[in-house]
Amino acid sequence: MNNDIEEVLYDQEQIHEAAVRLGQTITKDYAGRKPLVLSVLKGAYLWTADLVREIDLYVDLEFIKISSYHGGVTSSNEIQLVTDVQSDVAGRDVLILEDIVDTGQSLLFLKDLLKDRGANSVQVATFLDKKGGRKIEIDADYVGFDVRNEFVVGYGLDYAGLYRNLPYVGILKKDIYS
Ligand code: PRP
Ligand code: MN
Ligand code: MG
Repeated sequence: MNNDIEEVLYDQEQIHEAAVRLGQTITKDYAGRKPLVLSVLKGAYLWTADLVREIDLYVDLEFIKISSYHGGVTSSNEIQLVTDVQSDVAGRDVLILEDIVDTGQSLLFLKDLLKDRGANSVQVATFLDKKGGRKIEIDADYVGFDVRNEFVVGYGLDYAGLYRNLPYVGILKKDIYS
């Protein structure tokens, strides 16, 4: 599996530092509130585990599963709600956790859904922000790393469902998917 990686972009230590940095900022920004942390499966599973342990607040942890890439290398315009959140978000300060914001379509879908359901506030903490991939104008509130416009895998991010268990993020060799 490691042989399929062209270049490592962020190793375990850098990832840990990003989680600590964002966790401290979020702790300050949400002081006195009890946010509902909404982890977006599957990609955000590791980022969620690492980031929430750096947040010193009372949080509710919820999960939602959506799918846009359907395992491929490009985002589809059809976002599928695979598994819905199990609690009421009305009146809550929702903090969405994403592994990556690329075209921005998944994030827009989620923000619209949560606002429609009456969330008090909706913010986003993304591990990676691929600004070069945007198809719509949308920004994350907290960003671990600004990543270049390459197809990256690892630390939750997949190609064809694989590589999510890599402990680092790397660029996938092109011959793997072309
Ligand atoms: C990926 C990623 C984000 C989204 C970002 O999820 O985890 O959720 O796409 O892409 P976008 O900004 O272009 O919408 P994917 O649909 O691959 O599902 P997964 O998390 O289960 O891998
Ligand atoms: Mn995802
Ligand atoms: Mg995916």
